[in-house]
Amino acid sequence: MPPTIGVFDSGFGGLTVLRALVARLPRARFAFIGDTARLPYGSKSRRTIARYAAQSAQFLVNQQGAEFLVIACNTASALALDAIQEAVPVPVLGVIEPGAEAARQASCTGDVLVIATDATVHSHAYAAACRARGLRALEKACPLLVPLVEEGWTGPLMAARAATESSAAQAASALHQAAVTAEVIRIYLDELNAEAAAQGMNADTLVLGCTHYPLLRRLIEKAVPAGMRVIDSAEAAAEAAVRLFNGRAASLTGEQESENPPPAAQLRCFATDSVEKF
Ligand code: DGL
Repeated sequence: MPPTIGVFDSGFGGLTVLRALVARLPRARFAFIGDTARLPYGSKSRRTIARYAAQSAQFLVNQQGAEFLVIACNTASALALDAIQEAVPVPVLGVIEPGAEAARQASCTGDVLVIATDATVHSHAYAAACRARGLRALEKACPLLVPLVEEGWTGPLMAARAATESSAAQAASALHQAAVTAEVIRIYLDELNAEAAAQGMNADTLVLGCTHYPLLRRLIEKAVPAGMRVIDSAEAAAEAAVRLFNGRAASLTGEQESENPPPAAQLRCFATDSVEKF
């Protein structure tokens, strides 16, 4: 029986990490919980985030039998990884270290930009993880982006879907929403680039330090200066998870031939509220 990997996020943004994990471990069993009742974590204190995250981790381990945990939530990874590890007796992987490592591999100048929630930025977890790898990092909180994603104002893809599934008016409205989100992104990134320039940085890499931001990736890529690499912490975390689970990963990736191959990935998803929206 393949092991169960528990994946935790404060909401549904963590599905970006789950998607990246399923692509790499197609034979694993996954239990995902989104703490939608208590989202956003990004504006809460370390103590509250640690308490909430530990409860979800215990649910995944004690009730869903998870043998590994991936903390998809950047905010919980930044502020509560120790508390989560203390709360459960299984290996726990956060997204900050993999994100910083991916930045190290991508950056030629050694100067990196990070966008994330308020709580993640104020923890300076990304800056510390980057510094440990010889990088200089400048972090910026972008608090409007999570609500825009939660509302589905995520860009041209939503507009295209509206065009095929709904009315022309709804498609036009989705395009308008995408333009608003693009403008918000542009303002944040302009401010961040100006601050980086003022500090004499020559940044060539931008880390998406929040589960929700990969859903805005196309809009963000359009807004960054030419040549800047965009690092998706969800993809980086999934790569690190495969390495962490290496002893058992061969059977999970489907690379190991056997007479009785395990079934395709099994997913169980839970949310603490708003199941319909989730
Ligand atoms: N999941 C959070 C993160 O990755 C974003 C949403 C929230 O603020 O809870 O930082």
